[in-house]
Amino acid sequence: MEQSNQTENIKAGKPVILSGIQPTGGLHIGNLFGAIKNWVAMQDEYQCYFTIVDLHSITNKQVPAELRRSTLDMAAMLIACGIDTDKSVLFVQSHVPEHAELAWVLICLAGTGELSRMTQFKDKAAQHPENVNAGLFAYPVLMAADILLYQADLVPVGEDQKQHLELTRDIAQRFNHNYSDTFKIPDAYIPKTGARIMSLQEPTKKMSKSDENKKATIFLSESDEEIKNKIKRAVTDSGELLNDDFFKNASINHESLMDFMKNRPGLANLLTLYHASTNKAFIEMGKDLAGKGFGDIKSIVAEAMADYLNPIRTKYNEIRKDENKLKELLAQGAEKAHSVALKTLRKVYKKVGFYSL
Ligand code: TRP
Repeated sequence: MEQSNQTENIKAGKPVILSGIQPTGGLHIGNLFGAIKNWVAMQDEYQCYFTIVDLHSITNKQVPAELRRSTLDMAAMLIACGIDTDKSVLFVQSHVPEHAELAWVLICLAGTGELSRMTQFKDKAAQHPENVNAGLFAYPVLMAADILLYQADLVPVGEDQKQHLELTRDIAQRFNHNYSDTFKIPDAYIPKTGARIMSLQEPTKKMSKSDENKKATIFLSESDEEIKNKIKRAVTDSGELLNDDFFKNASINHESLMDFMKNRPGLANLLTLYHASTNKAFIEMGKDLAGKGFGDIKSIVAEAMADYLNPIRTKYNEIRKDENKLKELLAQGAEKAHSVALKTLRKVYKKVGFYSL
């Protein structure tokens, strides 16, 4: 059944989407509302491949047992958030050997000059000068292999990964030019919606899993109490209350909110969280929030967010409990991914001149 679903999708010629996520650190509400919800929404229209990139994770020092556990945690959480393994191919990168194999071929086409210009590499090298390994340097080429193996049309990426996608396109074009047309040149996918969730403590900074201030980030695994406490302690300002007119002004939609409230980023973040967790339009939000003090607003938003995340966490616990079933789902995903990846790798090996037995 699953297999035939996949085949139908591929036959129907749906555009291919690939995205990857590192298993370490867990998912927070910034990931959920900024990326994962978009992944979930794309599953019918596109043939999606979602990969948990454990090969990328070892470019940082890892604790093996933790990596093993967090890989399964991530898979369970993605499914709990709505990734449907009947529609999309969900797999762990290291289960599909073609990723490492293609990466090597592409590494031989990548210039050390262009790799040393990658801002993420420069940032990470500066953060961890004691561990600037060659894997960290080659990281974006492995990412290129992830994308090109599936002949992806579109890659949903955040601002921080755009440079890596540009590099992917350059390398793909180089290969196609040096040998012959082999890889589809992928485009960035800019989602129609998608909220930018900011740190609860420094609302001009994006929410991040590596924030040292634990009050700044809400992880999907946290309890109702923890979620509510963090929102109630979120940084706001001492400006005016938001009145009816503010919410009734129809020209202020969700997208321009951040712009409009540049000077009140903490408050803007709370409104974004309320919109994300209730899906209410701005005018509707006004009915709940207009004229209220910031303490009350925080309580209302805290309640809404806890209510939104609770069923996801319940589902996660259910899925995570049955580890055999989870591993079986990932094995099926790996098999589907492998059959597509192998086709691309075979072509590549042939074109570069590897003699096949
Ligand atoms: N580098 C990406 C990140 O850190 C993760 C990633 C790996 C990825 N392979 C990918 C994203 C392929 C998109 C496509 O966020």
